[in-house]
Amino acid sequence: MEFKSKIKTIEWVDNYSKMVDQTVVPYEYKFINITTGEAMFHAIRDMIVRGAPAIGIAGAHGVVLFAQEGESKFTDIEQFKIWLIDKAEYMKTSRPTAVNLMWACEKQIEVIRNSKSDIKGLIEELKQNAIKLENEDIEINKKIGDFGAEVVPKGATILTHCNAGALATVGYGTALGVVRSAYAKDNTIQVFADETRPRQQGARITTFELAMDGIPVTLITDGMCSYFMSKGMIDMVVVGADRIAANGDTANKIGTYTVAIAAKYHNIPFYIAAPLSTIDTSIKSGKEIPIEERSHEEVTHINGKRICAEGVNIINPGFDVTPHELIAGIITEKGILRPDYNKSIAEAFKG
Ligand code: MRU
Repeated sequence: MEFKSKIKTIEWVDNYSKMVDQTVVPYEYKFINITTGEAMFHAIRDMIVRGAPAIGIAGAHGVVLFAQEGESKFTDIEQFKIWLIDKAEYMKTSRPTAVNLMWACEKQIEVIRNSKSDIKGLIEELKQNAIKLENEDIEINKKIGDFGAEVVPKGATILTHCNAGALATVGYGTALGVVRSAYAKDNTIQVFADETRPRQQGARITTFELAMDGIPVTLITDGMCSYFMSKGMIDMVVVGADRIAANGDTANKIGTYTVAIAAKYHNIPFYIAAPLSTIDTSIKSGKEIPIEERSHEEVTHINGKRICAEGVNIINPGFDVTPHELIAGIITEKGILRPDYNKSIAEAFKG
């Protein structure tokens, strides 16, 4: 039985990109139309759209938006292509850690380079490619979900961190895709969601989307995970990823590494769920993953209200890197990759 999720996070409509505005979830569930390339750059940077696969698709849409804007500026296709590749490179810089953004913009750059069409034709090719990537994202997540569901014990409580759900992808989710597929087989499973400070994607977004789909979820604050692990209340951990190095080291939302250490100590399997587009085989280890440093206000304030003394020192990395030794498996659309990750990742890219 397939799980039907109600959520579609981002979608190309006619000549613009329609997305859920995630800055206001769960107070509001509203859609916003992005109509220019620059507006898309800001939507990604300001996290109106967020989550590695979702910002990948947003980046692909952004390239189409720039292309549409460029149509009236150019008559020469070669000049148009040079200008547009530059815009696609710019779109890649809207956030630094999630490699899906670079991957999807690169897919659009390939279309630009290989196209034999005129300007109008190339814009149509870019649009069709964006829609193809969009549809594939959902298909890939369902595969990830189904592979992951096979390792979910009956009646399991699954801990997750941040939001790697439908709202972090086009739909269905990666870590929460595993939850959705497992729930379709066994509706006695449940989720524990870490709050995920500073931006509270767990509290705001994961609980919202699971409640929307009727899947039981318990919200805990970030420091509570080892307590519940020690009580035997967590059976497995599944989280998403922003970038995975060739050796399996994985960048995900800040706090993920702490959860992985706690899981190892308590002998609880810790899984990553991510598409192959999140794996960056050009880097050997997690040391090479660029970590986004975000606004200090995310730490000093909650919902616009200051929670600490004025003038206090702040540091706010958005992501951390979980060493591959702590990861029981990487659940992908090609199956569950196991250590030695250098070998299993290389193998997954072959077939
Ligand atoms: O800063 P965010 O909200 O974009 O971070 C999101 C995460 O860390 C997710 O876990 C990751 O992108 C995987 S989404 C399927």
